[in-house]
Amino acid sequence: LSILLYNKLDNADRWRAAFQEVLPDLPMVTRETMGEPGEIRYAVVWQPEPGVLGELPNLRAIFNLGAGVDGILRDASLPADIPIVRLRDAGMATQITEYALYGTLHYHRDFDRYAGFQRAADWTELPNRRAGDRPVGVMGLGVLGADVAAKLAMLGFDVSGWSRSPKTLPDVSCFHGDDGVQAFLSRCEILIVALPLTDDTRGFLDARRIAWLPDGAALVNLARGPLVVEADLLAALEGGKLRGALLDVFNEEPLPADNPLWRHPKVIVTPHIAAQTRVREGAAQIAAEIRRMEEGGAPSQTVDRSLGY
Ligand SMILES: NC(=O)c1ccc[n+]([C@@H]2O[C@H](COP(=O)([O-])OP(=O)(O)OC[C@H]3O[C@@H](n4cnc5c(N)ncnc54)[C@H](OP(=O)(O)O)[C@@H]3O)[C@@H](O)[C@H]2O)c1
Repeated sequence: LSILLYNKLDNADRWRAAFQEVLPDLPMVTRETMGEPGEIRYAVVWQPEPGVLGELPNLRAIFNLGAGVDGILRDASLPADIPIVRLRDAGMATQITEYALYGTLHYHRDFDRYAGFQRAADWTELPNRRAGDRPVGVMGLGVLGADVAAKLAMLGFDVSGWSRSPKTLPDVSCFHGDDGVQAFLSRCEILIVALPLTDDTRGFLDARRIAWLPDGAALVNLARGPLVVEADLLAALEGGKLRGALLDVFNEEPLPADNPLWRHPKVIVTPHIAAQTRVREGAAQIAAEIRRMEEGGAPSQTVDRSLGY
């Protein structure tokens, strides 16, 4: 019985060390050291290559070293009845909220406009708007989006949120479903995207829906690149519909050097760093799930494969 660690990031050694501490009795192997595939009972993965998980006949659960499971679900050979357990928060919510706050304040306090003025040595004052007069919207009110919405509301912003199922959150105007999306988008001067990438959300922010935003809105995408149609985003920036975009995620990562987003004057690019999984918190969460399963329990909070998140 052992655990397979499949993580193409360069912090695999840190994960292995953290697991050794919390699960000293369970050997952790890699694909190179694993021996008999039948020995593997649990797989702990980040963006595994398609096919890898289908080779393990005695697998009982797959643990994802992050919040988004789009990298796992694209694997057509994924065994159908094995539960997929994702990390919940694991230190990510605070970081995601910091990133969202940075983006919100950047546009709310006109730092984009002042940067342009500075380049022209132009000492122009713009009127400061009250946070309460600034409608900010959060798309996706899950573990991460709900934290963003709550903290923005705490700072006094006029916050709304949108999710698949109806929600009630203190001080947040909640919209849901396809019927609620136009009403939601039409009030977002700053839109923060915190949706998972699924069959339903891929390409969701296209020209038609971007047009529902108020003129001059700003976009913060800290979730997944393909949620936004890149060509439509560029057109909306060029045409002035959007005032700017803070982007952490892209269709292709790393963002190719010749992609126009790198040099676009209205775009800020960061290299998918909005939140990084905290290794110790992640390992502790997964260890607790494995112990529960070893004692005959079911894993908690598994991914709903039909919904894709
Ligand atoms: N850039 C980074 O560094 C980074 C780091 C971590 C995560 N992420 C991304 O952030 C995403 C969100 O993470 P999370 O932990 O907050 O996810 P989560 O807890 O699964 O929440 C997802 C939210 O999106 C809503 N949603 C899903 N499909 C929808 C649809 N078709 N229409 C409307 N709303 C929909 C859900 O609605 P319900 O509440 O009704 O289910 C839920 O509120 C992850 O999937 C990942 O891609 C990025």
